[in-house]
Amino acid sequence: MHTLESLPTADKPAAYAELSRSLRALLEGEPDLVACAANMAALLYWSLPELNWAGFYLVEPRTGDLLLGPFQGKPACIRIPIGTGVCGTAAARRETVVVPDVHDFPGHIACDSASNSEVVVPILDGERLIGVLDLDSPLHARFDADDARGLEVLVQVLVAAIRGRT
Ligand code: SME
Repeated sequence: MHTLESLPTADKPAAYAELSRSLRALLEGEPDLVACAANMAALLYWSLPELNWAGFYLVEPRTGDLLLGPFQGKPACIRIPIGTGVCGTAAARRETVVVPDVHDFPGHIACDSASNSEVVVPILDGERLIGVLDLDSPLHARFDADDARGLEVLVQVLVAAIRGRT
């Protein structure tokens, strides 16, 4: 049983360092992507403040689309073509996209009307795009460069786990 601890919210780098340790412990020895992504979504959703959705879209090999994966939050749209919405844009650019106000983002896909800001981190195993990590918040400008960096490190922990390196 994993016990969630409250995180120091004033110091984001410290909070992400602690989350990274928790995630390593949680995923240790388990290379299954869906199982690891499910626990990671739960860890993030229940540890980070002011989120209304945390989860994954995973590349469907047959079509190349992003397909809804493990998540916490309200039901979400199932299929997102690469290049569409915030998720598809981060996947196409292969870089983290931070959106302070989703209503200003052309093509944003509204899954939960409560969402006002969003961050999407691509998941890359070398050159291969596996999917994206997506976090939504009801606050405007909830996510900044510290969140982007912290989440990128957490995604690296996930990739290490599914490569069997934990
Ligand atoms: N807003 C995302 C869609 C996924 S939901 O936020 C869960 C987007 O524009 O890609």
